[in-house]
Amino acid sequence: MERENTQLVKLRSLLEIARALTAEKDLDRLLSLILQEVTRVTEADRSSVFLVDRERRQLWSRIAQGLEIKEIRIPLASGIAGHVAITRKILNIPDAYQDPRFNSEVDKQTGYKTKTILCVPMMNREEEVIGVIEVLNKRDGEFLPEDEELLLAFAGQAAVAIENAFLYEEIERLFEGFIRASVYAIESRDPTTYGHSERVAVLTVGLAEAINRVERGPLSKVRFSPDMLKELRYAALLHDFGKIGVKESILVKANKLYEEELQLLLMRFKFIKRTLEAEYLRKKNEIFESSKGANTHLIERLDQELIAKLSDIDSQLRFILECNKPAIIPEGGFECLKEIAIQTYPDLDGNPQPFLTPYEMENLFIPTGSLNTAERLEIESHVIHTIRFLERIPWTKNFKEISTIAGAHHEKLDGSGYPNRLRAPEIPTQSRMMTIADIYDALTASDRPYKRALPIDRSLNILASEAKEGKIDWDLFNLFIGAKVYNLVIRGS
Ligand SMILES: [Fe+2]
Ligand SMILES: [Fe+2]
Repeated sequence: MERENTQLVKLRSLLEIARALTAEKDLDRLLSLILQEVTRVTEADRSSVFLVDRERRQLWSRIAQGLEIKEIRIPLASGIAGHVAITRKILNIPDAYQDPRFNSEVDKQTGYKTKTILCVPMMNREEEVIGVIEVLNKRDGEFLPEDEELLLAFAGQAAVAIENAFLYEEIERLFEGFIRASVYAIESRDPTTYGHSERVAVLTVGLAEAINRVERGPLSKVRFSPDMLKELRYAALLHDFGKIGVKESILVKANKLYEEELQLLLMRFKFIKRTLEAEYLRKKNEIFESSKGANTHLIERLDQELIAKLSDIDSQLRFILECNKPAIIPEGGFECLKEIAIQTYPDLDGNPQPFLTPYEMENLFIPTGSLNTAERLEIESHVIHTIRFLERIPWTKNFKEISTIAGAHHEKLDGSGYPNRLRAPEIPTQSRMMTIADIYDALTASDRPYKRALPIDRSLNILASEAKEGKIDWDLFNLFIGAKVYNLVIRGS
């Protein structure tokens, strides 16, 4: 009766273990859980789990050594474990040193003395051996037939859990691969922002980890679980995915006019200069003819006038080229541009044409940066594309906030951001963190066609003024600086 009771207790605990095992998706944590529980239920002193690597014909195990987890590998057919893996039969050995299959090498290395061994195969649903469980040194004597039964039942549960964990690892790898491929797709369209997504992910997750260490103040109430960190990383890696829907020419636009538009403008100014030269030549010819070459004084004056006019046009062109750069237009620049624009020259049919077209004027008048309003709106639409893309993925419940987090990375606390002009209470903390990382990386990135890389201190100053103006989160920004999160990405010179 007592024996039946103990068996019942053991069976119950086996069921509980089975539940715990199936809930654990991380292979390392699962293996250590198996070891801990199997040692307990069989009343053994220690245990090990070996898994079969069919391709390499090896048994492998991960063992904890201090804080590190080390992988050990042995040939498939060696020792007690190998024997069980090959024969699929239980081995219950009352005295290890009397058994020729026993390899005492490990004992020699560890100083441990193995006495009794119970080793069973772990089979999956297809009845393939996926590994073996070995328990050593029963606390009071030898392993009994009911220990064999118990361990076999346990091994069945462990096998299912291990296979699930493998499957989970595989799915995760597949998914990571898909994310990497997506990041590659964004960045190959816009090579000038190469590495941006990864750096924003490193900075945002780094900030989250710094928050987890905060002990006082409002941020001490915010905590990120491992799943939340993963969710944040995926959101950060994919935040700019929507750039895939923006015209490439706009993504890489370096100056206010596109290169071919600028070439057209330069040709026109050459034409204007040639026309002037031709006109003066004609005038000089007329004077020469009418004065029979006597009026050299007037001809010299015309020559000087032409030189002055040509140099005037050259300096106007230099000014236009200066305005074409994405920098801020200097004081009085707009008036100067207007004066240049309203001048005319005769085209091939003799009709007067303005020096600058309305389109060129509109673009050269862009107060800062290289994009006009329509182009800026198109760039801004990348967030909408990101949201639409991410909403189409059937995320598991751990990752269901990814599109909300990524979709708000250009929102500002005062409602001046885009695309939804959200205000502080509507913007998730994760998005606020990503905004800081995103702006910091965009400012310090060395490789954008429309701007030079700023030094770290100047970039942090710009972020500080954004925080003072109530656009980005002050506490998060302070932690970004205080915990030196920005140092997580290495900046080239
Ligand atoms: Fe963005
Ligand atoms: Fe970005």
